Amino acid sequence: MFNYSKREKLIKPSAIRELAKLIQDPDIISFAGGMPAPELFPLEEMAMVSSDIIRKNGGKALQYSATEGLLDLRKIIANRMNRFNVSCTEENIIITNGSQQGLAFSGKLFIDEGDVIICENPSYIGALNAFRIFNPRIIGVSMDENGMLMDELAKTLKEYPQAKFIYTIPDFQNPTGVTLSAERKQTMIKLSEQYQVPIIEDNPYLELNFNDGISYPIKSYDKTGNVIYLGSFSKTLCPGLRVGWILAPQEVVKKYALIKQSVDLHTNTLSQMEIVEYVSRYNYDHHIMAIRDLYRARRDTMLKTMAAEFPDSIHWTKPQGGMFIWVTLSETMNATDVFNKALEQKVAFVPGDSFFPDGNISNCFRLNYVTMDENRIIEGIKRLGQVLKGDEVRNNV
Ligand SMILES: Cc1ncc(COP(=O)(O)O)c(C=O)c1O
Repeated sequence: MFNYSKREKLIKPSAIRELAKLIQDPDIISFAGGMPAPELFPLEEMAMVSSDIIRKNGGKALQYSATEGLLDLRKIIANRMNRFNVSCTEENIIITNGSQQGLAFSGKLFIDEGDVIICENPSYIGALNAFRIFNPRIIGVSMDENGMLMDELAKTLKEYPQAKFIYTIPDFQNPTGVTLSAERKQTMIKLSEQYQVPIIEDNPYLELNFNDGISYPIKSYDKTGNVIYLGSFSKTLCPGLRVGWILAPQEVVKKYALIKQSVDLHTNTLSQMEIVEYVSRYNYDHHIMAIRDLYRARRDTMLKTMAAEFPDSIHWTKPQGGMFIWVTLSETMNATDVFNKALEQKVAFVPGDSFFPDGNISNCFRLNYVTMDENRIIEGIKRLGQVLKGDEVRNNV
């Protein structure tokens, strides 16, 4: 009865949302989700901030506001990005409904049917789905423990010099947890300039760095305005506010603003004011430090337990920040089979195939180490270790 568009047929259900239905049982130890740890949401502070804003400035907070976002918030973001050696002002920033909206708008702005776009292999499912609606050809570039392989990127650009953009999550990547080395970040900029193919740098985990030094984003090396940067408050404050940003040359910001106007006019005014007020009143850096400390401890526990419990044939990444570990099984093993067996033992993770643009690799999976407490991490990894040992034995007979 409903005659849907061709575009609608390109929208795939997210593998993670489908999984979520299977793992609703609260007894399941789930390493599957992509959610931050809710115990660190600053509830009392946000309660004070929201009620003060509504009481004292409700007329503004509940009113329509500018498409580009609140000036005060854009200034706060520009100042924070300056700390990461990104030279920009509020004029370079447009506030979005999470960085997911930045991805959807980037698809709208750049992709015509059949266009080539380049990304890491594997990449963030939400981005692949946001781009797929525009029917591009997505070419994945392999990675190692230092991120996307620059030789392979150079080869891909040579083969597809008309590619519309390179999409990358350089720091503490979702799903692998891997970081693109500083040297490769600079090489990527050079290649982008050489081929005049822009980079879309999606960096929501940048500040969740477990080491002391700063990880500088690709945008910090960009002297010609080839990089469009997407940021977010989801991982450092709370995702429910749905506030992120696009940082780009002014003429590109204007294009995004036209798209945003046609989609939702502007991002939630109250959420934006809450962030401005929270950051002005409280110590946001301190808050991020607490998140890093908790996540670092949980990462350590997971890695240590994996080293003790997983069979030798299995390999995994050692993330220096962010939320995820990526596990690679031996080639004969299948992560979805392991998932089904693990679920019987009430442990869950995300099988890796849907993170690959062409879905052809089936021996990997993603573990989130931040949402379960340390006891559940230990218990869950022990159970998973048993499943993996059993599967390995079966595969070898
Ligand atoms: C790499 C990456 N990009 C973008 C997003 C979307 O984040 P949000 O829209 O909450 O800012 C996520 C969320 O998990 C992500 O992992």
